[in-house]
Amino acid sequence: MSGPTDTRVLGIVGSPRKDGNTEALVDAVLEGAIGAGALAEKKLLGSLTIGPCKACNGCQKTHECVQQDDMVELLPLMRDSEIWVLGTPVYWWGPTSQFKAFVDRWYGVDPRIFRGKRIIAAVPMGGGNEHYARHVIGMIEDICNYLGMELIASIITPGMNGKDSVRQSRLHIDAARDVGASTVRSIHERDPSLHRAANQPVGS
Ligand SMILES: Cc1cc2nc3c(=O)[nH]c(=O)nc-3n(C[C@H](O)[C@H](O)[C@H](O)COP(=O)(O)O)c2cc1C
Repeated sequence: MSGPTDTRVLGIVGSPRKDGNTEALVDAVLEGAIGAGALAEKKLLGSLTIGPCKACNGCQKTHECVQQDDMVELLPLMRDSEIWVLGTPVYWWGPTSQFKAFVDRWYGVDPRIFRGKRIIAAVPMGGGNEHYARHVIGMIEDICNYLGMELIASIITPGMNGKDSVRQSRLHIDAARDVGASTVRSIHERDPSLHRAANQPVGS
């Protein structure tokens, strides 16, 4: 997926269910971002092999994980993307195991990768009350503060019981698109050179 600037957005789908609610929310944010001129890439954690942290502490000496799995392919995308869309459904008041394994592996990553990233959390859930997402959002919020990232927005969608629930909700899709677009625009406003690039036709 691409647009006319070099502002990059990385979408992470933390649900093991392909084409489900998390992916629909992440897609909508990315569509909004592309519409505002960004480049976007999406990764499905359910299709990748990311082993859980072994707590061997090898990374604390080498800044590299002893596990050479699909995290290797994610790291350059994380480094090069100014905006990360972190999507996970609520599973037992927490994130999915796939999402938690991904985040646990940040333990071994050079901390400079995280500083200044803009984070958008996308969290669908079956329950009817946003309160069920409080631990997921709290976890993401605390990690952002700890690692020097900025949590720009949390898109929380209760009552998403069917696989297509998000896609059937124009309200949620539009809200997620708006968040993607406005986050990219805010970067362009802060950096006029990117803003100018966004207003140039593709290929110029
Ligand atoms: C193992 C499992 C645990 C779940 N736990 C919760 C929960 O604690 N609270 C909640 O509101 N929904 C819970 N749900 C429902 C999902 O959050 C909901 O169906 C969500 O829309 C799934 O997103 P997806 O389509 O991207 O997989 C759970 C679903 C599964 C499969």
